[in-house]
Amino acid sequence: MNISVFGLGYVGAVTSACLAEQGHRVIGVDLHAAKVAAFGRGQSPIIEPEIDALLQRATDGHLLGATLDVHAAVVETDVSIICVGTPSLPSGRLNLDYVHKVTAQIAKAIRNSEKTHILLYRSTMLPGSTRALVTGMLADLVASGQVRVYYCPEFLREGTAVKDFREPSLVVIGTQDGAPPADAAVCEIMGGQPSILAWEGAEMIKYSCNYFHALKVGFANEIGRLCKHLGEDGTRVMDVLCADTRLNISRYYMKPGNPYGGSCLPKDVSALKSFARQENLSLPLLENTAATNAAHQDLFVSLIEGKAKRRIGFLGLAFKADTDDLRGSPMVAAAETLLGRGYELCIYDPHLNLSRLIGANEQQILARMPHLAQLLKQSAEEVLQSSEVIVVSQKCASFETLQEMARPDQIVIDVNGWRELKDLPWQYEGICW
Ligand SMILES: NC(=O)c1ccc[n+]([C@@H]2O[C@H](COP(=O)([O-])OP(=O)(O)OC[C@H]3O[C@@H](n4cnc5c(N)ncnc54)[C@H](O)[C@@H]3O)[C@@H](O)[C@H]2O)c1
Repeated sequence: MNISVFGLGYVGAVTSACLAEQGHRVIGVDLHAAKVAAFGRGQSPIIEPEIDALLQRATDGHLLGATLDVHAAVVETDVSIICVGTPSLPSGRLNLDYVHKVTAQIAKAIRNSEKTHILLYRSTMLPGSTRALVTGMLADLVASGQVRVYYCPEFLREGTAVKDFREPSLVVIGTQDGAPPADAAVCEIMGGQPSILAWEGAEMIKYSCNYFHALKVGFANEIGRLCKHLGEDGTRVMDVLCADTRLNISRYYMKPGNPYGGSCLPKDVSALKSFARQENLSLPLLENTAATNAAHQDLFVSLIEGKAKRRIGFLGLAFKADTDDLRGSPMVAAAETLLGRGYELCIYDPHLNLSRLIGANEQQILARMPHLAQLLKQSAEEVLQSSEVIVVSQKCASFETLQEMARPDQIVIDVNGWRELKDLPWQYEGICW
């Protein structure tokens, strides 16, 4: 393929070198004359393992060129990959000026040449940015079919960028509506097994990854600070933490849904926070962990209240399925709030039988929800029958029962991702989807 790469920084230089290695003919474009001149001679504008040899080989094989001339680059290629910088403004907001300028230049060249062209954006851009380009400065070209636009975030790491290009940790292709790309060229350029999403989803994945990476670093460093304060080796503690690949380094807990609850997480996070405060340690992530959970709980209750119905049913009350433990249960907290605000509630949880509840659970119910006995029903059917809004936190009714009883006037709020609920004849909404 003939491919132009706009922006010869870290991403653009590595992309150019690696695409040429695959046999594509690449033209690099940048604003800086010195960079373009050096690149044209096969000299790398960045320091990165393997890149010098790759660029030299590509130049010797006549697969690599560089130019300042946008029109020439567009005319001679079928695909333009946009890798210009997207820095922060002093306010912290994203600055898309370079993306806008390069898009305007490329669009002008396409209009003048009347050719069809693929635009593949790799610069990191906030959700909505690609669609804004498509409905804004590219609108006429997209409408006429002259341009097709993809958003494919880049995940390479400096220092191992060439290796990461060859074996990407993730391959994501963003299309207008999440349907597979109309152009085989895009899959060929991206390689691997792509996850295909709408533009906004693809944009969001990039930010989710970097937010998560930042969170991981922050977490490890907070544990490190705590450990050092205690005279413990934080590296060793984190090594052992990472050895648990079931709960710690795994997909577990990595699912939007329920706020966290139960008898351990709220209590232990709170104890560690109090301890850090007492020791005068600044641990802002720990400090705010309960706050983010509380915000999620508030959103959950607002979601229910926003439906403007009075009769609310809960399928599941314990903090998770297959337990009768009500301590710290987000459903108990939500039910309590709603009761206090005058809603009519009914609840079914197969593991809750008041006559069998003892100890902490019994106390919890008696102290916090003395009316629970009246609210608890003996079957899911009773809840389904009498509720306008049904909050499903557990699969405690069979799908067949739900199928039989779901009514179009009912609203179901799915807390834990039981996506089949969507297929039933009621109004479906997920807590975060
Ligand atoms: N550096 C990384 O490790 C990395 C990893 C993944 C994603 N990203 C993202 O990729 C994008 C590029 O990052 P980078 O580190 O390569 O940036 P960079 O600042 O190193 O390079 C950007 C290049 O774009 C050029 N440029 C600006 N406007 C131009 C125009 N109109 N025409 C042609 N060239 C133009 C600049 O001169 C510069 O050489 C950013 O959005 C970044 O967030 C970077």
